[in-house]
Amino acid sequence: MHNLGIAITGSGSAVPATSLDNQSLSELVETSDEWIATRTGIRERRVALPSESLSVLATAASRNAIASAGIAASDLDLILLATSTSDDLFGTACQVQAELGATKAVAFDLTAACSGFVFGLVTAAQYIRTGVYQNVLVIGADILSRWVDWQDRRTCVLFGDGAGAVVLQASKSDRLLGFALKSDGTQNHHLNLTYAASPQELLPGVNITKGTYQPITMNGKEVYRFAVQKVPEIIDKALFQANLSVDQIDWLVLHQANQRILDAVAQRLNIPPHKVISNLAQYGNTSAASIPLALDEAVRQDKIKPNDIIVTSGFGAGLTWGAAIFQWGR
Ligand code: ACO
Repeated sequence: MHNLGIAITGSGSAVPATSLDNQSLSELVETSDEWIATRTGIRERRVALPSESLSVLATAASRNAIASAGIAASDLDLILLATSTSDDLFGTACQVQAELGATKAVAFDLTAACSGFVFGLVTAAQYIRTGVYQNVLVIGADILSRWVDWQDRRTCVLFGDGAGAVVLQASKSDRLLGFALKSDGTQNHHLNLTYAASPQELLPGVNITKGTYQPITMNGKEVYRFAVQKVPEIIDKALFQANLSVDQIDWLVLHQANQRILDAVAQRLNIPPHKVISNLAQYGNTSAASIPLALDEAVRQDKIKPNDIIVTSGFGAGLTWGAAIFQWGR
């Protein structure tokens, strides 16, 4: 008889060694520490060296998560890597699987931008609920510094690189209390990292395209408006599903996009600031990595304790957004 409940039993994270503060950015583009800090709350971000590939960061975060869960890599049945910045368009999860020595695990990438971790968590949960797998690693990792236009002050100040991971295990008691996911492709044009190509004639009359991905473009005001409206709504929906009230929440771990978004969402939900986890001052917006990175730091700082009720919500390109509520630990 399988245990069909879900427990999140470990977390880990890894960031590149190089830090770039707002002052250094002002040497690149016309900006200031004051502008960036007051509009976003960000003070510095990490940027990956060529040797710090996505698989390197994701593997390091995964090792920490596996160790904190007290399992071996060879116990893993599934590895889900949420990323938009793969080392290889065919996927990076299998490289992580090999690095970890997770010989039994099937591994694949999942792309949902800054919602990727929450989408990955919920996807992983389905495999456990159906009794198919017992031990799953969910990684959120991104290297957006590869795809930022470092001449565009409207975007380059926002993003940073990093990786975070959690281990989900089958359990008698179900600690994933509720979730909700949403997409709205009609708003896709507000945040993009698109492939742009020129036609190339392969043979007379046979045309293909050749090109590359273009730097991130974003309508900051629209993305801000979207986040502040949709994130409280989806958290309410997940709370309803979990049969919980707002005051039962111990921690709010939102995608770390912007301190003003964190504050506005918490205010709309009536969640006091001391329950809001925020580490974006040090890391900026690390896309799919931001939630597991913030979660892992809070666990290691002994803020998040076993049985605490955590609300997470990711939101971003797609547009996509989602919320998941869980109780920490076994
Ligand atoms: N330094 C100095 N000035 C700047 C900078 C900068 N880094 N960036 C923009 N400005 C200027 C603009 O040019 C503009 O000047 P102008 O009035 O002369 O044209 C002025 O500052 C105001 O610009 P706005 O874009 O109106 O500034 P806003 O208050 O909207 O703040 C921000 C911009 C911080 C990007 C905000 O819109 C925001 O946080 N949006 C959400 C973005 C976000 O979180 N995106 C990630 C989503 S998650 C994902 O999936 C990746």
